[in-house]
Amino acid sequence: MTDTKIKIENLSFFYGKKQAINDFSLDIPKNRIMSVFGPAKSGITTLLRSLNRLYELIPDTRAEGRILIDNEDIHAPSVSLTQLRRRVGMVFDVPTPLPMSIFDNMAYGPRLSGIKRRSELEGIVEQSLKMAALWEDVCDRLDTPAASLSGGQQQRLCMARVLALKPEVILLDRPCSGLDPISTAKIEESLQELKKQFTIVIAPHNIQQGGRISDRAVFMLSGNLIEEGTAEEIFANPTDKRTADYITGRFG
Ligand SMILES: Nc1ncnc2c1ncn2[C@@H]1O[C@H](COP(=O)(O)OP(=O)(O)OP(=O)(O)O)[C@@H](O)[C@H]1O
Ligand SMILES: [Mg+2]
Repeated sequence: MTDTKIKIENLSFFYGKKQAINDFSLDIPKNRIMSVFGPAKSGITTLLRSLNRLYELIPDTRAEGRILIDNEDIHAPSVSLTQLRRRVGMVFDVPTPLPMSIFDNMAYGPRLSGIKRRSELEGIVEQSLKMAALWEDVCDRLDTPAASLSGGQQQRLCMARVLALKPEVILLDRPCSGLDPISTAKIEESLQELKKQFTIVIAPHNIQQGGRISDRAVFMLSGNLIEEGTAEEIFANPTDKRTADYITGRFG
């Protein structure tokens, strides 16, 4: 085992009166890929959004319990939300590039954080696009609209935009949902590189993808943690019958 990057302790989450996560505890190791999977409405997106307090944009929501990142409580009054969301970046299932050029999409976050020098921005843009395995596709057309990219390229662009903010943790919520197998393979490949530098928490597109890319995995059902372990344990030898049934396609 490596160091723990994120420690979730007894997390419960509520949308109004509706409880979406029940007393959930989990250690997420540093520089590894942790998959969180389960049938629809298991609370996976809610869990991911809890890790950078993104749910606070939704009215009448409430989290109980503790989440520690590098041993620091993310709910502490001293925590800056801007800082937290920069440290813990999220990539959504549907890529949403801004209606501007590829370069400006990439430079948007760094510019907001105060970086103005063109050469510095160019460096960040190139490095982040390389990390997301998109540089070779776009290096000769950075000034064209991001909307002209294919779906898979747009998804990698959104990943690169998160990387440009130099996060520590990357949350990916089914990032390959709308993608063809080649784009999916590119993203999976870049994740194996990225985990050397970042901690990755991903809702995989399906069980096969979870098995291919994860170091550890957790199976969720109705807001509960059912089983957690190495990818081998969870995807090949689950001990809980509910995990086994889901993996073999008997429900969900
Ligand atoms: N904004 C919201 N307002 C109210 N209830 C919500 C909201 N978002 C999610 N929920 C509810 O919380 C529960 C968990 O939803 P969540 O989206 O976290 O699950 P999921 O595992 O990501 O499911 P999906 O398969 O849809 O991606 C569901 O019952 C859902 O209806
Ligand atoms: Mg979801």
